[in-house]
Amino acid sequence: MDKGKDVVAAGASAAAGLRGVVAATSSIGDVDGANGILIYQGYDIHDLATHSTFEEVIFLLWHGRLPKQDELDDLHETLRAHYELQPEILDLMRSFPREAEPMDVLRTTVSALDFFDQQAHDTSREVSVKTAARLVAQIPTIVTTLERLRKGLEPVKPNSKLNIAANFLYMLKGEMPSPADARVFDQCLILHADHELNASTFTARVVAGTLADMYGAVTAAIAALSGPLHGGANTNVMKTLLAIGEIDRAETYIKNALAEKRKIMGFGHAVYRTEDPRATHLRQFSKEVGERAGNTKWYEMSRRLEEVMMREKGMFPNVDFFSASTYYMMGIPLELFTPIFAVSRISGWTGHILEQYENNKLIRPRAEYVGARGLKYIPLEAR
Ligand code: COA
Repeated sequence: MDKGKDVVAAGASAAAGLRGVVAATSSIGDVDGANGILIYQGYDIHDLATHSTFEEVIFLLWHGRLPKQDELDDLHETLRAHYELQPEILDLMRSFPREAEPMDVLRTTVSALDFFDQQAHDTSREVSVKTAARLVAQIPTIVTTLERLRKGLEPVKPNSKLNIAANFLYMLKGEMPSPADARVFDQCLILHADHELNASTFTARVVAGTLADMYGAVTAAIAALSGPLHGGANTNVMKTLLAIGEIDRAETYIKNALAEKRKIMGFGHAVYRTEDPRATHLRQFSKEVGERAGNTKWYEMSRRLEEVMMREKGMFPNVDFFSASTYYMMGIPLELFTPIFAVSRISGWTGHILEQYENNKLIRPRAEYVGARGLKYIPLEAR
């Protein structure tokens, strides 16, 4: 059928990928892409990454202010009380195929948490903050458990004396992390905690906007995060570095890839037009962790890539670029890079979901219709 004659010409005025469209009001975080500034609830990311802890940032994202000592102690206590997974959840995870994608395991397990929370469907602020705490506390345990099971190892029980960052590394490896590694990981969690209306956070808000429960909204957000154009990029950055193999091959590799019109993972951003402020810290972490481990090859290769991309394309690295070599040198398997993003971003997702519930309006935009109109149904045998 020639559709052309029937199509009502519609100028494609809708912004592709909703770029630049303001789709919500929020006090949680703001990205100033022109100036490379990121704030959470009014605080500059540089200040938070240098001085705060992930737990303080969680409180900040949920409550709009930094916690006092007793409030922080309460939050620690609540989170630590929820670190451990219910036996049914562990049994469920044991039943998954060992070769399943970690993000798929995370998504399915988070969805199932709902069955074991009697108040799951209560979207009141009071209950939702408790649900958020369960999710923030349990996602790290799910991620380390899925990794241990994938490797044929027994999961390591959480250590309720540790904060989220140290406990994650402890459960992953079964040994206490060094204070330096635990602090770098804590800072990585702070840096990834929120980023305004990125794809997964927007997804979470759309689902929460229907007044579906928080587990459902977070499950959908995890699916959105899993894509290679979003959270999946950090794993692909490390795959690129490993494929390059040697520092002196970096330039040729990038030039060839660009000549073939391939995207280089870890570069470019939908909002930033200058350095992503998170990359500033992650670049330093990549160097420090490499130096501590006695291997700065991946850091140096990343620096070379950065120079070539700036020269060839005028492009800056994004949050995923230096987080790849940082995690790799901390001994974290590639397959966990994207799930780790969720370990952090759950704080922002839940902050946005709380905000959405509190002042809810169903999110229901319109589409610019560019299809045919006025067609008459043709019986099957006549087509
Ligand atoms: N490597 C090489 N070229 C890139 C690029 C990259 N990483 N990112 C964008 N470009 C180029 C595109 O090819 C396009 O070129 P063209 O105009 O000649 O076709 C131009 O820059 C615009 O790209 P586009 O994808 O439309 O920009 P965007 O603002 O929609 O995309 C991203 C933002 C993040 C999706 C994009 O930069 C990307 O895919 N980056 C790699 C994946 C990544 O690191 N994601 C993590 C984001 S935090």
